[in-house]
Amino acid sequence: MDHSAKHCQAHVAGRILMIALLATLLFTSRGMAAQAKVAIHYDEATHVFRMDAADMTYVLGVNNAGEVQTLYWGKRLPASDRFGAAKQMPEAASFDLPLTTTPQEFVGWGGGLFVEPDLKITFPNGNRDLVLKYVSNSIDGNKLSIVMKDISLEVYVTLEYQLDAETGILRRSADIANRTGAPFTIEQVAAGTWNLPRGTDYRLRYLTGRWAAEWNVQKQPIHPGKTVLESRRGTTGAQNNPWFAIDREGSNDEQQGSVWFGALGWSGSWQITVEQDQLQQVRVTGGMNAFDFGYRLKSGESFQTPYFYGGYSDHGIGGASRLMHRLEIDSILPHHPTPKLRPVLYNSWEATGFNVDEAGQIALAEKAASIGVERFVMDDGWFGERKNDHAGLGDWYVNPQKFPHGLKPLIDKVHSLGMDFGLWVEPEMVNPDSDLYRKHPDWVLNFPGRPRTEGRNQLVLNLARPDVRAYVYGFLDKLLNENQIAFLKWDYNRNWSEPGWPAVAPDEEKNVYVDFIRNYYSILAELRKNHPNIEIESCSGGGGRVDLGVMQYTDEVWTSDNTDAFDRLLIQNGFTYAYTPGVMMAWVTDSPTWVNRRNLSLEYRFLLSMQGSLGIGANLNKWTPDDFAKAKQMVAQYKTIRDTVQRGELYRLISPEHNSEQSVTESVSRDGRQAVTFAFLHSSQEMYPFPRIFLRGLDPNAIYKVNAFAGKLMDGSPAQASGAYWMQHGVDVDLRGDFQAAAFTLTRLP
Ligand code: GLA
Repeated sequence: MDHSAKHCQAHVAGRILMIALLATLLFTSRGMAAQAKVAIHYDEATHVFRMDAADMTYVLGVNNAGEVQTLYWGKRLPASDRFGAAKQMPEAASFDLPLTTTPQEFVGWGGGLFVEPDLKITFPNGNRDLVLKYVSNSIDGNKLSIVMKDISLEVYVTLEYQLDAETGILRRSADIANRTGAPFTIEQVAAGTWNLPRGTDYRLRYLTGRWAAEWNVQKQPIHPGKTVLESRRGTTGAQNNPWFAIDREGSNDEQQGSVWFGALGWSGSWQITVEQDQLQQVRVTGGMNAFDFGYRLKSGESFQTPYFYGGYSDHGIGGASRLMHRLEIDSILPHHPTPKLRPVLYNSWEATGFNVDEAGQIALAEKAASIGVERFVMDDGWFGERKNDHAGLGDWYVNPQKFPHGLKPLIDKVHSLGMDFGLWVEPEMVNPDSDLYRKHPDWVLNFPGRPRTEGRNQLVLNLARPDVRAYVYGFLDKLLNENQIAFLKWDYNRNWSEPGWPAVAPDEEKNVYVDFIRNYYSILAELRKNHPNIEIESCSGGGGRVDLGVMQYTDEVWTSDNTDAFDRLLIQNGFTYAYTPGVMMAWVTDSPTWVNRRNLSLEYRFLLSMQGSLGIGANLNKWTPDDFAKAKQMVAQYKTIRDTVQRGELYRLISPEHNSEQSVTESVSRDGRQAVTFAFLHSSQEMYPFPRIFLRGLDPNAIYKVNAFAGKLMDGSPAQASGAYWMQHGVDVDLRGDFQAAAFTLTRLP
């Protein structure tokens, strides 16, 4: 058989394989008639892998040098489009070899590579050269695995790709196996590299922040060189969040245009490098932070990277956010695809600080219950000798002065009021002024003989140590066994310093960057397994530990310690670029706020918080009867819209960014029956009316009735109209003055 006949036969076999897979998936997938939601196809003749899901196509191929090369990432293409075999870039000059200029999915550092590597290893004999080539592949439903191996050493890397049928988001990771017979040190490792279509007009969005000012959206053109988004803090951090989105300048806005986006699921030091190389190829590489990294991998062991998710939307950055939200709800959060709705909670922190005791908490609980709160959470101050933030962390026994009969009387009271009970903990930390530290000074991260730098008067327990892990799991398990606790607010109030682990051999000390986080995840997983009803919030002095890794184990996150409702417009806006409002905890607190001493009406504060997961953190002892009445009404209203807000599709209609005077969001329920719109005005000027609001995501032919449950619509607004009317004609709200807000629902008539 001549070459072309062989080629043709393989091609036909490949097509048959693809058609069979498409057909199977066509009949098994939910409600999509025209095309299969997920298809993975390998064309043996061309060595091309093609993945299609939802509205995205991703194509890669094994090139003539045995490298795994990206061929396409973007909008879904017709199945009839074929891709030719991958080919290395030609040697343009002796300075930039094809290895460096060819866009690869996963590349080792070696052989003259100058762009960001996915893997760098130091071997015991001093060799640091690693050149990976394709070995084999396997396809299993919506998963593709590709095995690569070094040209001479027994180092195997398995690239794993898993497609999400509903969103087209691809989840990538790499598994590095050491079969060399000796340990080696991984000095840099990523889950993989996303290569964008070649272009020079890209714009990067990312999230930055700090304590009490998280979730700022940054936008900048991508130029030649690198932008590194990272945390070197041992934790996710608020300063950068492991999320990125890239679109094209000029042709994109909130609702339209191509967006390539992704997020890393890792709650330790991480790094996402966005690089435009010398031939204008944009590459995004994400994984462990390479700074001070060094993971000792023994022979026979393997190392699995965190997941790096990537997706594509041609509905602008708004569409990209909605895909992320859907992925989180349907595939990542505990109890997915139907994570439990967030209850309305009360938290005592801003009301009582560390001064918690039985009588005071019961008084607050009674008041909270009267407005319809469903969960009562006692914050910091209930344990050890915790009078302030100088002492007590690590001593997880109930403080006998504050709670002479333990927590039971308070918890019983909370239950009798029809609420469940939640408790604040900060398990990975210790105050030097604690029994735990006096007994185990060696349990913290430290370098012997060096200072132990404190932050908020506390040190970080080395959770990588088996004894520390056992202690932390043990006290949490005991707490949950002995008390009827429905919810833990798990806090983490500082970042690392002196990250030493003197108990292990010096060449294993840096494993702390990985083992700490793995133990953190494994404690969360074990607690959930042994206490299946427990719910957990990830908090780190606000939104300092929010990522797709921790979201696998936690039901909600604390967005920010900044609870000033006006500041929160921007904070919550940025949050929703990457994360669903369903996990975004938002408390109504006192006015004037401690943050800016700004006065805001109770209604404004409620409407702000109702855009996420509603909580109340005000000092209820100071509320007037009118406040209670208003709160009761708003809580009841929230319960009628929370399914839409927490699980629906979010449209950011008017952005509060760039000192905008207005902010408007709309959520549409998944079943399309309800839409909820929140509108906020900073200050009106020169009698200009509030901009007209053009709704989105409605059925143009259905009829919706409108109900303004806060503020007013302009006189003359129809009581009901078609989806087309609300989207094309729009709605005028009657907002004038300073810090005003309004909200309305649209309900689809049967
Ligand atoms: C952190 C949290 C707050 C509160 C305090 C308690 O700052 O973000 O919500 O729990 O700790 O010390």
